[in-house]
Amino acid sequence: MKARVLSGVQPSGSLHIGNYLGALKNWAEIQTQYESIFCIVDLHAVTVYQDPKELLGKIRETAALFIAAGIDPKESSIVVQSSISGHSELAWLLTCVTPLGWLQRMTQFKAKAEQQETVGSGLLQYPVLMAADILLYQANIVPVGDDQAQHLELTRDIAQRFNSLYGETFTMPATRLPAVGARIMGLDDPTQKMSKSATGAGHAIGLLDEPKTIQKKIARATTDSEPAVNSERMGPGIVNLFTIGHACDASITKESVTGMRYGDFKKRIAEAVIARLEPIQKRFREITSDAAYIDQVLTTGRDRVLPLAADTVRKTKQAMGLYVQGIG
Ligand code: AMP
Ligand code: TRP
Repeated sequence: MKARVLSGVQPSGSLHIGNYLGALKNWAEIQTQYESIFCIVDLHAVTVYQDPKELLGKIRETAALFIAAGIDPKESSIVVQSSISGHSELAWLLTCVTPLGWLQRMTQFKAKAEQQETVGSGLLQYPVLMAADILLYQANIVPVGDDQAQHLELTRDIAQRFNSLYGETFTMPATRLPAVGARIMGLDDPTQKMSKSATGAGHAIGLLDEPKTIQKKIARATTDSEPAVNSERMGPGIVNLFTIGHACDASITKESVTGMRYGDFKKRIAEAVIARLEPIQKRFREITSDAAYIDQVLTTGRDRVLPLAADTVRKTKQAMGLYVQGIG
């Protein structure tokens, strides 16, 4: 039997090159070796306010980008988190075994809470819901960018605690980080992770950005005061552009860029990004021209994983001594 892979992306903004290099690209590469489930985690997105007029469109756009980036709906199940009630149900059961201190310690919670006027309790519960996503499908491997490593450790802690309190119920999931691109930084500030929620126009390269926009953003990216690339001493802005370029085109190596003036180096990186995104954008346009296709993919995905989700919820309730219909 194939090991099972699960991962997710929030439909909370436009997907960027960090999402692609840190997550989607690797999912597409490993999907045939595993039984793969990829989630559009809309219940995570609403832990901060989302405009209801826009959210549904973003959910569909995210699904289309999964496919455009190479995730084959015949190989992998693409599912919307909120379409399977087991995610919320299991999240509650796991909440009951999770000490408050574990959640208050999460660095992402602390960072996000600082940005909100009122901190919703959903933001605190966010990693428990993520643990539920993973444990619901008894996933063996979770491919993510390195910002999610702490949430994965917590997932294992929750699973272990549940298993020791109520008996072996959950498979222990392993974290899988990409070799290159686990942490892409913002173009405007290479000390900050590239993120969907950052507002600056020059911060992120969107997967659907036009070639001209990509060129402009990279041309304006923050570097340092050196005139040319010195592979022995690259500043954080140059390291970040190099990482993006190398992940998009393996022929971009330290040797090949050494001595390049920053202007030429940036042009070379932009070229590689544009060439990498072009087929994804073309496929995205094809997919979205057929309005019914995405909904069909999402329905098929849900139907495929529903029995497994229901089975885990039933087992979990039984282990806890809760009432399960049809069992005495
Ligand atoms: P999110 O944008 O938070 O929904 O993240 C979805 C996936 O993309 C997760 O696996 C993240 O770890 C990954 N990811 C997000 N931002 C970055 C980044 N700047 N660099 C690398 N991976 C990222
Ligand atoms: N929290 C993840 C992020 O923002 C998204 C996510 C939700 C996820 N559930 C998951 C990732 C389960 C992997 C597995 O990047």
